[in-house]
Amino acid sequence: MKIAVLNDQSGAEARVSASLDSVKSYIADGHSVAVVKGAGKAANISDADYKAVGATIAATNTAAVKTADLVMSVVGGNAKLVAGMKKGAGICGLMNPADSAAYVKACADAGVDAFALEYIPRISRAQSMDVLSSQSNLSGYRAVIEAGSEYGRAFPMMMTAAGTVAPAKVFIMGAGVAGLQAIATARRLGAVTTATDVRPAAKEQVASLGAKFVAVENEEFKAAETAGGYAKQMSPEYQKLQAELTATHVAKQDIVVTTALIPGRAAPVLITKEMVASMKPGSVLIDLAVERGGNVQGAKPGEVVTTKNGVKIVGHLNWPSRMAGDSSSLFARNLKNFLPLLTAEGGVYGPDYDDDIIIGCLLTHGGAVVHERLTGEKS
Ligand code: NAI
Repeated sequence: MKIAVLNDQSGAEARVSASLDSVKSYIADGHSVAVVKGAGKAANISDADYKAVGATIAATNTAAVKTADLVMSVVGGNAKLVAGMKKGAGICGLMNPADSAAYVKACADAGVDAFALEYIPRISRAQSMDVLSSQSNLSGYRAVIEAGSEYGRAFPMMMTAAGTVAPAKVFIMGAGVAGLQAIATARRLGAVTTATDVRPAAKEQVASLGAKFVAVENEEFKAAETAGGYAKQMSPEYQKLQAELTATHVAKQDIVVTTALIPGRAAPVLITKEMVASMKPGSVLIDLAVERGGNVQGAKPGEVVTTKNGVKIVGHLNWPSRMAGDSSSLFARNLKNFLPLLTAEGGVYGPDYDDDIIIGCLLTHGGAVVHERLTGEKS
């Protein structure tokens, strides 16, 4: 099949959806690959590098999609671009489907198959295609590294001839994929690390990384996980108890990283203005949930806010893009693992539309929106 790799680069995006390894393997499997000029620039992959592994270089995204059977992208292109694709071809990327009605309609109108990678079901067979996990893991790492650079002190305890440097106290809220990597990173850097989550399963995972678990462990907590492994929306009573516990703990922390999300809902507010005001000057809060409403009151998307009492609240967007080399290479690996599901006999484009993974992430097919979350059959 003819694969096109889009240039997704913009002020907000530095990643690319194909690595040299993935392109090499597509070509070894008999596919042809056209990479759009400059696509890998911010990930430090040049056009010449792509050419050297067998790709051709297309001048523009519009030119590349015209004849492609499958379009690979980090963000899924845009409505205008999909209108120029071949009918019956496929496009994949992180499409943010719930908030992209006009784009999804454009995919249906163009008669293309749109695969939203964030909807790939989190079943064992799809683990190697799980873009959310591969990217969140890097976000968690980067959050702690950037917290360290905003913080005017050291992470580890240091005993020197000039005196002892106290270790930083780091608190991670939400111990999912990003949170667990943040815990591991803070521990590796020598911080005194604590963490919380509303899912009981997280307690053991936090402990296994050498951090202390801090949570309201009542009856509601014991039942707070959905069958799919996600957090439930907690009751107002639980939220009150959690806020009390958080308030006393947060006042003693140097760095707090929040990662708490509930699928399909706005992020829960975990750190109030009062809690921020209780922190020492120079403390740092990193809100990884800022794109979904934020866990920290006063966090601003895309900004670093310094409060009156000298606390920094970091609200960067698109954390994976801040480490485009690794995030692109893991993203590309996820797509490479996804490709066999889109390939029919003879190596031609031909998804198995009865496969659970395809059903889980296919938004549009045959000129219509087909995903049950978008057609209203399931929210
Ligand atoms: P997420 O990004 O939806 O949420 C992050 C974390 O915030 C979760 O651990 C959640 O429990 C926590 N949280 C929500 N509300 C909170 C509150 N009020 N206070 C404190 N913490 C709160 O979650 P993510 O990272 O996508 O993973 C969640 C779970 O999904 C995993 O632990 C695992 O069970 C499952 N998973 C399964 C995979 C697979 O089977 N392939 C791969 C990755 C994750």
